[in-house]
Amino acid sequence: MADRHAHEAHGDVADLFTQQTWDARYAESDRIWSGRPNARLVEQANGLTPGTALDVGAGEGADAVWLAGRGWDVTALDVSEVALGRVRAHAVEAGVGERVHARHHDLMTGEPLPGGFDLVSAQYLHPPAERFVEIMGLLGGSVRQGGLLLVVGHHPDDVTSGVRAGHGHPELLFTPNKVVAALPTEEWEIRVAESPTRTVDTADGPVTYTDTVVLAARR
Ligand SMILES: C[S@@+](CC[C@H](N)C(=O)[O-])C[C@H]1O[C@@H](n2cnc3c(N)ncnc32)[C@H](O)[C@@H]1O
Repeated sequence: MADRHAHEAHGDVADLFTQQTWDARYAESDRIWSGRPNARLVEQANGLTPGTALDVGAGEGADAVWLAGRGWDVTALDVSEVALGRVRAHAVEAGVGERVHARHHDLMTGEPLPGGFDLVSAQYLHPPAERFVEIMGLLGGSVRQGGLLLVVGHHPDDVTSGVRAGHGHPELLFTPNKVVAALPTEEWEIRVAESPTRTVDTADGPVTYTDTVVLAARR
C-alpha cells in the first residue's frame, strides 16, 4: 500500500508524478509495497463478475495480479518502467501473465487512457490538486457505459489526526466529496462514498488511517 510514500512526499509537487522520480523510488529496493492487494479493492471488487479492468498507477502489480487471479483481464498502467517490470514478473510468478498487460502511460501528459473497461481502479493515486478534476475525467473516460470506477486514496483527516502530520503535500489528499464533485451526476451514479478507517501494525505500534473510497457506475 501507499502509506510509506505519503509520509515521504516532500519537495516540488511536480516531481511526484515523473518517471524519473518513481523509477528511482522503485529502484531503492526489490519490492517497496507489501505484495498484497489493497484492502479497499478487495472489499469493493470481491463480488463483481470478472471482465476487463484498468489499474491506473498500478505500482508493483499486487492489485492487477489479484484481479487476474479472479478471472479479470487486467491492463496495468504506470509511469514507472521499473514498476511495470515488476508487474510483469509478479504476474508470471502468479501464473496469470497472460491476463495482465503492463503498459507505460504518463497521466500528466493529459492524453486519454485506453477505453471500454468494465472496471477502472485507481488506488492511492493522488493527482496534483489543480488537475484533480481533469484526471478524474480521464479515469472516468476509460469506463464503459454500465461499468465501474473505483477511486481510493488517503483522506485529509490523516493530517489533522496526526498520522500523516508530516505530509509534505497535504493538498494532495482528498475526501470522497471531492471525487464525487468531479464526476458529473448526469453521467455517474455514486454507489459508495465513504471514509473508512484501517489499523496497520507498524514498528511504532498500531496506526489508524482513514481512506477515501468512491465507487461509481457510469450511466
Ligand atoms: C502511491 S503509488 C500507488 C501504487 C499502487 N496503486 C498501490 O496502491 O500500491 C502511486 C503510483 O502512481 C504512479 N504514478 C505517479 N505518477 C504517475 C503518472 N504521471 N502517470 C502514471 N502513473 C503515475 C507511480 O509510479 C506509483 O506506482
